[in-house]
Amino acid sequence: MVFEFDVQTISKEVAEASFSWKSPSNIALVKYWGKSHPQIPKNASISFTLKNSHTITKIDFKKKAESDKVSFDFIFEGKKKDDFKPKIESFFERIDAFCPYLKQYHLTISSENSFPHSSGIASSASGMSAMALCIMSLEKALNPSLTEADFNKKASFLARLGSGSASRSIEGPLVIWGAHAEIEGSSDLFGIPFAGKIHDNFKNYCDTILLVDKGQKQVSSTVGHQLMHNHPFASQRFEQANENLLKLTTILENGDQKAFINLVESEALTLHAMMLTSNPYFILMKPNTLEIINALWAFRERTQSNICFTLDAGANVHVLYPKSEEKMVLQFIEDELSRFCEKNHYICDEVSSGAEQLL
Ligand code: PMV
Repeated sequence: MVFEFDVQTISKEVAEASFSWKSPSNIALVKYWGKSHPQIPKNASISFTLKNSHTITKIDFKKKAESDKVSFDFIFEGKKKDDFKPKIESFFERIDAFCPYLKQYHLTISSENSFPHSSGIASSASGMSAMALCIMSLEKALNPSLTEADFNKKASFLARLGSGSASRSIEGPLVIWGAHAEIEGSSDLFGIPFAGKIHDNFKNYCDTILLVDKGQKQVSSTVGHQLMHNHPFASQRFEQANENLLKLTTILENGDQKAFINLVESEALTLHAMMLTSNPYFILMKPNTLEIINALWAFRERTQSNICFTLDAGANVHVLYPKSEEKMVLQFIEDELSRFCEKNHYICDEVSSGAEQLL
Protein backbone atom coordinates (compact mmCIF):
# COMPACT_ATOMS: atom_id res chain seq x y z
CA MET A 1 0.00 0.00 0.00
CA VAL A 2 1.25 3.49 -0.79
CA PHE A 3 1.08 5.68 2.32
CA GLU A 4 -0.57 8.97 1.44
CA PHE A 5 2.46 10.98 2.57
CA ASP A 6 5.01 9.04 0.53
CA VAL A 7 6.26 10.89 -2.52
CA GLN A 8 3.89 9.80 -5.26
CA THR A 9 5.74 10.87 -8.40
CA ILE A 10 8.77 12.90 -9.33
CA SER A 11 8.26 14.16 -12.85
CA LYS A 12 10.61 17.15 -13.03
CA GLU A 13 14.34 17.77 -12.58
CA VAL A 14 15.23 20.63 -10.25
CA ALA A 15 18.94 21.49 -10.06
CA GLU A 16 18.62 24.62 -7.99
CA ALA A 17 15.69 26.45 -6.39
CA SER A 18 14.86 28.87 -3.60
CA PHE A 19 11.58 29.13 -1.72
CA SER A 20 10.50 31.35 1.12
CA TRP A 21 7.47 31.26 3.43
CA LYS A 22 6.14 33.45 6.21
CA SER A 23 4.46 31.19 8.72
CA PRO A 24 2.64 32.29 11.86
CA SER A 25 2.50 31.07 15.40
CA ASN A 26 -0.84 29.87 16.78
CA ILE A 27 -2.60 29.96 20.13
CA ALA A 28 -4.58 26.93 21.29
CA LEU A 29 -8.08 27.43 22.70
CA VAL A 30 -8.41 23.73 23.57
CA LYS A 31 -4.95 22.54 24.52
CA TYR A 32 -2.76 19.67 23.43
CA TRP A 33 -0.75 18.36 26.37
CA GLY A 34 0.33 14.73 26.25
CA LYS A 35 1.43 12.68 23.25
CA SER A 36 2.71 9.32 22.15
CA HIS A 37 5.44 8.54 19.63
CA PRO A 38 5.78 9.91 16.90
CA GLN A 39 4.05 13.16 17.81
CA ILE A 40 0.60 11.60 18.11
CA PRO A 41 -1.58 13.79 20.37
CA LYS A 42 -3.55 12.21 23.21
CA ASN A 43 -6.49 14.50 22.47
CA ALA A 44 -7.72 16.79 19.73
CA SER A 45 -6.96 20.52 20.00
CA ILE A 46 -8.00 23.72 18.22
CA SER A 47 -6.18 27.02 17.78
CA PHE A 48 -6.46 30.48 16.34
CA THR A 49 -3.79 31.05 13.70
CA LEU A 50 -1.92 34.29 14.45
CA LYS A 51 -0.54 36.91 12.10
CA ASN A 52 2.17 39.19 13.49
CA SER A 53 4.07 36.56 15.47
CA HIS A 54 5.68 34.74 12.59
CA THR A 55 8.85 33.21 11.19
CA ILE A 56 10.17 33.96 7.72
CA THR A 57 12.26 31.12 6.33
CA LYS A 58 14.04 30.83 3.01
CA ILE A 59 15.62 27.62 1.82
CA ASP A 60 18.09 27.53 -1.09
CA PHE A 61 18.24 24.01 -2.50
CA LYS A 62 21.26 22.99 -4.60
CA LYS A 63 21.48 19.54 -6.18
CA LYS A 64 24.51 17.38 -5.28
CA ALA A 65 25.48 13.73 -5.05
CA GLU A 66 23.05 11.84 -2.78
CA SER A 67 24.24 11.45 0.82
CA ASP A 68 22.86 9.36 3.68
CA LYS A 69 21.81 12.44 5.72
CA VAL A 70 20.38 15.79 4.70
CA SER A 71 23.21 18.29 4.33
CA PHE A 72 22.38 21.83 5.45
CA ASP A 73 23.52 25.12 6.93
CA PHE A 74 21.32 27.11 9.27
CA ILE A 75 21.45 30.88 9.41
CA PHE A 76 19.35 32.58 12.08
CA GLU A 77 18.82 36.33 11.82
CA GLY A 78 21.85 36.69 9.55
CA LYS A 79 24.27 34.59 11.61
CA LYS A 80 25.27 30.95 11.29
CA LYS A 81 23.68 29.15 14.26
CA ASP A 82 25.11 25.71 14.87
CA ASP A 83 23.36 25.24 18.24
CA PHE A 84 19.97 24.96 16.45
CA LYS A 85 21.35 22.24 14.17
CA PRO A 86 20.61 19.12 16.32
CA LYS A 87 16.87 19.96 16.47
CA ILE A 88 16.74 20.46 12.70
CA GLU A 89 18.81 17.33 12.13
CA SER A 90 16.34 15.22 14.10
CA PHE A 91 13.46 16.84 12.16
CA PHE A 92 15.14 15.77 8.89
CA GLU A 93 15.57 12.24 10.25
CA ARG A 94 11.88 12.05 11.11
CA ILE A 95 10.71 13.25 7.70
CA ASP A 96 13.30 11.29 5.68
CA ALA A 97 10.90 8.49 4.70
CA PHE A 98 8.43 11.05 3.32
CA CYS A 99 10.93 13.40 1.61
CA PRO A 100 13.76 11.14 0.40
CA TYR A 101 14.62 13.66 -2.34
CA LEU A 102 16.10 16.03 0.28
CA LYS A 103 19.28 13.95 0.49
CA GLN A 104 20.07 14.90 -3.11
CA TYR A 105 20.38 18.59 -2.17
CA HIS A 106 22.41 20.90 -0.02
CA LEU A 107 20.06 23.21 1.89
CA THR A 108 20.90 26.70 3.05
CA ILE A 109 18.18 27.61 5.55
CA SER A 110 17.84 31.26 6.56
CA SER A 111 15.31 32.11 9.21
CA GLU A 112 14.13 35.12 11.18
CA ASN A 113 11.36 35.71 13.70
CA SER A 114 9.14 38.78 13.89
CA PHE A 115 9.30 38.59 17.68
CA PRO A 116 12.46 38.89 19.77
CA HIS A 117 14.25 35.56 20.10
CA SER A 118 14.18 35.64 23.89
CA SER A 119 10.60 36.86 24.28
CA GLY A 120 9.33 33.64 25.82
CA ILE A 121 7.20 33.07 22.71
CA ALA A 122 7.85 29.60 21.41
CA SER A 123 9.09 29.80 17.84
CA SER A 124 8.76 26.08 17.19
CA ALA A 125 5.25 26.30 15.65
CA SER A 126 6.10 29.11 13.24
CA GLY A 127 9.67 27.91 12.62
CA MET A 128 8.85 24.27 11.92
CA SER A 129 5.83 25.09 9.76
CA ALA A 130 7.83 27.61 7.69
CA MET A 131 10.51 24.98 7.09
CA ALA A 132 7.93 22.32 6.17
CA LEU A 133 6.33 24.71 3.67
CA CYS A 134 9.66 25.47 1.94
CA ILE A 135 10.30 21.71 1.64
CA MET A 136 6.81 21.23 0.19
CA SER A 137 7.50 23.96 -2.37
CA LEU A 138 10.47 21.91 -3.57
CA GLU A 139 8.27 18.79 -3.67
CA LYS A 140 5.68 20.72 -5.70
CA ALA A 141 8.44 21.76 -8.15
CA LEU A 142 9.45 18.08 -8.47
CA ASN A 143 5.83 16.97 -8.74
CA PRO A 144 3.70 19.79 -10.23
CA SER A 145 0.57 17.63 -10.16
CA LEU A 146 0.36 17.98 -6.35
CA THR A 147 -2.94 19.69 -5.48
CA GLU A 148 -3.17 22.62 -3.05
CA ALA A 149 -5.15 20.48 -0.60
CA ASP A 150 -2.52 17.73 -0.63
CA PHE A 151 0.25 20.32 -0.39
CA ASN A 152 -1.27 21.82 2.78
CA LYS A 153 -2.04 18.45 4.29
CA LYS A 154 1.50 17.17 3.83
CA ALA A 155 3.00 20.50 4.98
CA SER A 156 1.01 20.14 8.20
CA PHE A 157 2.00 16.47 8.47
CA LEU A 158 5.72 17.35 8.15
CA ALA A 159 5.44 20.35 10.50
CA ARG A 160 3.86 18.08 13.12
CA LEU A 161 6.92 15.85 13.06
CA GLY A 162 9.00 18.93 13.97
CA SER A 163 6.69 20.20 16.71
CA GLY A 164 3.14 19.02 17.40
CA SER A 165 1.50 22.43 17.54
CA ALA A 166 3.26 23.43 14.27
CA SER A 167 0.73 21.24 12.44
CA ARG A 168 -1.84 23.97 13.25
CA SER A 169 0.19 26.83 11.68
CA ILE A 170 -0.34 26.19 7.95
CA GLU A 171 -3.90 27.43 7.47
CA GLY A 172 -6.37 29.56 9.41
CA PRO A 173 -8.28 31.15 11.04
CA LEU A 174 -9.04 28.09 13.23
CA VAL A 175 -7.34 24.73 12.90
CA ILE A 176 -8.15 21.39 14.52
CA TRP A 177 -5.45 18.77 15.03
CA GLY A 178 -6.10 15.32 16.49
CA ALA A 179 -8.56 12.59 15.57
CA HIS A 180 -11.99 13.31 17.06
CA ALA A 181 -14.82 10.82 16.64
CA GLU A 182 -17.33 13.56 15.90
CA ILE A 183 -15.25 15.84 13.69
CA GLU A 184 -15.17 14.69 10.12
CA GLY A 185 -11.76 14.60 8.48
CA SER A 186 -9.90 15.21 11.77
CA SER A 187 -6.62 13.34 12.09
CA ASP A 188 -3.75 12.72 14.50
CA LEU A 189 -1.38 13.15 11.57
CA PHE A 190 -2.16 16.69 10.39
CA GLY A 191 -4.28 19.75 11.14
CA ILE A 192 -7.45 20.65 9.25
CA PRO A 193 -9.17 24.04 9.02
CA PHE A 194 -12.28 24.25 11.19
CA ALA A 195 -15.01 23.58 8.64
CA GLY A 196 -18.00 24.94 10.58
CA LYS A 197 -19.55 28.34 10.18
CA ILE A 198 -17.78 30.95 12.33
CA HIS A 199 -20.16 33.45 13.96
CA ASP A 200 -19.34 37.13 13.35
CA ASN A 201 -18.52 37.49 17.08
CA PHE A 202 -15.45 35.33 16.57
CA LYS A 203 -14.20 36.76 13.30
CA ASN A 204 -11.06 38.94 13.38
CA TYR A 205 -10.30 38.13 17.01
CA CYS A 206 -7.36 39.94 18.61
CA ASP A 207 -4.62 38.43 20.78
CA THR A 208 -2.33 40.73 22.72
CA ILE A 209 0.55 38.72 24.14
CA LEU A 210 1.78 40.05 27.46
CA LEU A 211 5.45 39.18 27.88
CA VAL A 212 5.64 38.41 31.59
CA ASP A 213 8.84 36.43 31.46
CA LYS A 214 11.24 36.45 28.55
CA GLY A 215 13.65 33.94 30.06
CA GLN A 216 14.16 30.29 29.26
CA LYS A 217 11.40 28.10 30.72
CA GLN A 218 12.46 25.91 33.63
CA VAL A 219 10.64 22.89 32.19
CA SER A 220 10.42 22.37 28.42
CA SER A 221 7.23 21.31 26.61
CA THR A 222 8.94 18.03 25.73
CA VAL A 223 9.35 17.19 29.41
CA GLY A 224 5.84 18.48 30.21
CA HIS A 225 4.27 16.20 27.59
CA GLN A 226 6.24 13.25 28.96
CA LEU A 227 4.93 13.88 32.46
CA MET A 228 1.41 13.20 31.20
CA HIS A 229 2.39 9.51 31.04
CA ASN A 230 1.49 8.07 34.46
CA HIS A 231 -0.25 11.33 35.39
CA PRO A 232 -3.11 10.59 37.81
CA PHE A 233 -5.61 12.74 35.89
CA ALA A 234 -4.41 12.08 32.35
CA SER A 235 -7.27 10.00 31.02
CA GLN A 236 -9.95 12.35 32.43
CA ARG A 237 -8.06 15.30 30.97
CA PHE A 238 -7.86 13.79 27.47
CA GLU A 239 -11.56 13.02 27.59
CA GLN A 240 -12.40 16.50 28.85
CA ALA A 241 -10.37 18.16 26.08
CA ASN A 242 -12.24 16.21 23.41
CA GLU A 243 -15.56 17.19 25.03
CA ASN A 244 -14.45 20.83 25.22
CA LEU A 245 -13.49 20.81 21.58
CA LEU A 246 -16.94 19.64 20.60
CA LYS A 247 -18.55 22.28 22.85
CA LEU A 248 -16.31 24.95 21.34
CA THR A 249 -17.32 24.08 17.79
CA THR A 250 -20.93 24.78 18.78
CA ILE A 251 -19.95 28.03 20.53
CA LEU A 252 -18.01 29.21 17.46
CA GLU A 253 -21.11 28.66 15.39
CA ASN A 254 -23.70 30.16 17.74
CA GLY A 255 -21.60 33.15 18.85
CA ASP A 256 -22.03 32.63 22.62
CA GLN A 257 -19.26 34.87 23.98
CA LYS A 258 -19.82 34.08 27.66
CA ALA A 259 -19.53 30.35 26.96
CA PHE A 260 -16.38 31.00 24.90
CA ILE A 261 -14.75 32.90 27.78
CA ASN A 262 -15.63 30.19 30.26
CA LEU A 263 -14.30 27.38 28.13
CA VAL A 264 -11.10 29.10 26.99
CA GLU A 265 -10.06 30.25 30.47
CA SER A 266 -10.88 26.87 31.95
CA GLU A 267 -8.69 25.18 29.32
CA ALA A 268 -5.77 27.49 30.13
CA LEU A 269 -6.01 26.86 33.86
CA THR A 270 -6.49 23.12 33.35
CA LEU A 271 -3.28 22.98 31.28
CA HIS A 272 -1.41 24.56 34.17
CA ALA A 273 -3.25 22.37 36.67
CA MET A 274 -1.78 19.37 34.82
CA MET A 275 1.68 20.84 35.41
CA LEU A 276 0.94 21.47 39.11
CA THR A 277 -0.24 17.86 39.52
CA SER A 278 2.57 16.17 37.54
CA ASN A 279 5.27 14.33 39.39
CA PRO A 280 7.78 15.94 39.48
CA TYR A 281 5.43 18.94 39.74
CA PHE A 282 6.29 22.32 38.33
CA ILE A 283 4.90 25.85 37.99
CA LEU A 284 5.38 27.92 34.84
CA MET A 285 3.15 30.83 35.87
CA LYS A 286 4.83 33.76 37.62
CA PRO A 287 3.34 36.11 40.23
CA ASN A 288 2.67 38.63 37.45
CA THR A 289 0.72 36.01 35.47
CA LEU A 290 -1.74 35.91 38.38
CA GLU A 291 -1.72 39.70 38.80
CA ILE A 292 -2.76 40.00 35.16
CA ILE A 293 -5.49 37.38 35.43
CA ASN A 294 -6.98 39.08 38.49
CA ALA A 295 -6.83 42.54 36.91
CA LEU A 296 -8.44 41.17 33.74
CA TRP A 297 -11.28 39.58 35.70
CA ALA A 298 -11.90 42.82 37.60
CA PHE A 299 -11.94 44.78 34.32
CA ARG A 300 -14.38 42.33 32.77
CA GLU A 301 -16.67 42.59 35.78
CA ARG A 302 -16.50 46.40 35.70
CA THR A 303 -16.99 46.91 31.96
CA GLN A 304 -18.90 43.82 30.79
CA SER A 305 -16.17 43.42 28.15
CA ASN A 306 -15.77 40.09 26.35
CA ILE A 307 -12.06 40.01 27.10
CA CYS A 308 -10.55 36.73 28.28
CA PHE A 309 -7.13 35.13 28.66
CA THR A 310 -5.35 31.98 27.72
CA LEU A 311 -1.89 30.65 28.52
CA ASP A 312 0.55 28.45 26.68
CA ALA A 313 3.29 26.46 28.37
CA GLY A 314 4.86 29.50 29.99
CA ALA A 315 4.24 32.61 32.08
CA ASN A 316 3.08 34.91 29.28
CA VAL A 317 -0.60 35.78 29.06
CA HIS A 318 -2.53 35.87 25.78
CA VAL A 319 -5.35 38.40 26.07
CA LEU A 320 -8.14 37.55 23.63
CA TYR A 321 -10.90 39.98 22.62
CA PRO A 322 -13.15 40.88 19.71
CA LYS A 323 -11.89 43.51 17.25
CA SER A 324 -14.86 45.73 18.18
CA GLU A 325 -13.38 46.14 21.70
CA GLU A 326 -9.83 46.80 20.53
CA LYS A 327 -9.58 50.45 21.50
CA MET A 328 -10.93 49.98 25.02
CA VAL A 329 -8.88 46.83 25.69
CA LEU A 330 -5.60 48.29 24.40
CA GLN A 331 -6.10 51.29 26.68
CA PHE A 332 -6.69 48.93 29.62
CA ILE A 333 -3.57 46.91 28.74
CA GLU A 334 -1.45 50.02 28.49
CA ASP A 335 -2.80 51.55 31.69
CA GLU A 336 -3.15 48.50 33.92
CA LEU A 337 -1.43 45.40 32.54
CA SER A 338 1.78 46.55 30.84
CA ARG A 339 3.34 47.19 34.26
CA PHE A 340 3.31 43.41 34.87
CA CYS A 341 5.28 42.73 31.66
CA GLU A 342 9.04 42.52 31.45
CA LYS A 343 10.18 45.97 30.31
CA ASN A 344 6.47 46.75 29.72
CA HIS A 345 6.62 44.68 26.54
CA TYR A 346 3.62 43.17 24.82
CA ILE A 347 2.85 42.14 21.23
CA CYS A 348 -0.40 43.06 19.49
CA ASP A 349 -1.50 40.22 17.31
CA GLU A 350 -4.66 39.03 15.60
CA VAL A 351 -6.08 36.03 13.84
CA SER A 352 -5.03 35.32 10.25
CA SER A 353 -5.77 32.90 7.47
CA GLY A 354 -2.37 31.20 7.67
CA ALA A 355 1.04 31.03 6.06
CA GLU A 356 2.02 33.02 2.96
CA GLN A 357 4.51 32.15 0.27
CA LEU A 358 7.02 34.95 -0.34
CA LEU A 359 9.19 33.27 -2.99
O1 PMV B 1 3.97 21.76 20.18
P1 PMV B 1 4.57 21.64 21.54
O2 PMV B 1 5.15 20.29 21.75
O3 PMV B 1 5.50 22.77 21.86
O4 PMV B 1 3.38 21.72 22.62
C1 PMV B 1 2.57 22.84 22.75
C2 PMV B 1 1.65 22.70 23.87
C3 PMV B 1 0.82 23.92 24.23
O5 PMV B 1 1.28 25.09 23.60
C4 PMV B 1 0.91 24.14 25.73
C5 PMV B 1 -0.65 23.68 23.89
C6 PMV B 1 -1.01 23.72 22.44
O6 PMV B 1 -1.97 23.00 22.10
O7 PMV B 1 -0.40 24.47 21.66
